[in-house]
Amino acid sequence: MEFSGYRVAVTGAGRGLGRSLALSLGRDGAELFLSARSFQAAEEVAQEVRHVGGRAHAFECDLAEPESIRDFAEALGEVSETVDVLVNNGAPYLDAGGFLEAADEDVAAVIAAGAAGTVLATKALLPLLLRSGRPDIVTLVSGCGEYGNHRSAAHEAFYAAKSAQAGFTEVLSKRLRPQGVRVISLYPPDFDEVDPLSPEWDRPRGAAEALSARSVVDCVRFAIGQPRDCFIKSFYFEQA
Ligand SMILES: NC(=O)c1ccc[n+]([C@@H]2O[C@H](COP(=O)([O-])OP(=O)(O)OC[C@H]3O[C@@H](n4cnc5c(N)ncnc54)[C@H](OP(=O)(O)O)[C@@H]3O)[C@@H](O)[C@H]2O)c1
Repeated sequence: MEFSGYRVAVTGAGRGLGRSLALSLGRDGAELFLSARSFQAAEEVAQEVRHVGGRAHAFECDLAEPESIRDFAEALGEVSETVDVLVNNGAPYLDAGGFLEAADEDVAAVIAAGAAGTVLATKALLPLLLRSGRPDIVTLVSGCGEYGNHRSAAHEAFYAAKSAQAGFTEVLSKRLRPQGVRVISLYPPDFDEVDPLSPEWDRPRGAAEALSARSVVDCVRFAIGQPRDCFIKSFYFEQA
């Protein structure tokens, strides 16, 4: 199986793309360390991974809470000495209908979890990644983190969080390159959610259709599957 022996940590893995990545990599042999704000949500996806033949462990991790991130890293370190791939996937979305309409608490939470949470999760798990012979840090940014991209209706705070992720991963890629850590960022536009357990997952899609979660997952699989001399840094997407 293509990802046998890979140890992959995914944040925000209780639903959406995090779940899709977990199921896709898990049924191809990866061992998953799945975190979500709710332990129950992470455990339900872990059970789905086990059901398709993969190995998975569930953890609670609220990316808006530094202590929760440290607890996640510590708990993960108790079950595995290394992590090969960290997927920074979790990040709250915000579309409040206007800049002034958003509650201050929601603005702060989006930036805390998306920006600080991504930096802190990477910091907390880096020691485990550095023990791997093939360390990769994958971050699901967004078109909203691409300079000059104004296409999304997302709140300004979401743009701020995603732009912070972009700036962080840009410099991290350069600084971790000498240690052989690949820092891979994806900047997708809005994509259609597709359930990996449904026949829709394998349906061929056309150029007139929106990007699908399946295609985003395939980009991640492609990047982490490359030989170690191949440092893919970014995936950018042309919108329809
Ligand atoms: N969907 C798109 O069209 C799209 C496009 C471009 C980029 N992206 C990015 O791709 C990633 C995954 O997308 P998605 O479609 O699965 O996103 P989503 O449906 O908006 O789900 C966001 C995920 O982040 C988690 N999350 C939110 N706040 C969190 C916190 N404080 N701590 C931990 N986890 C938290 C959510 O968990 P809960 O269940 O606890 O809320 C959920 O698992 C996100 O980073 C998103 O910004 C998505």
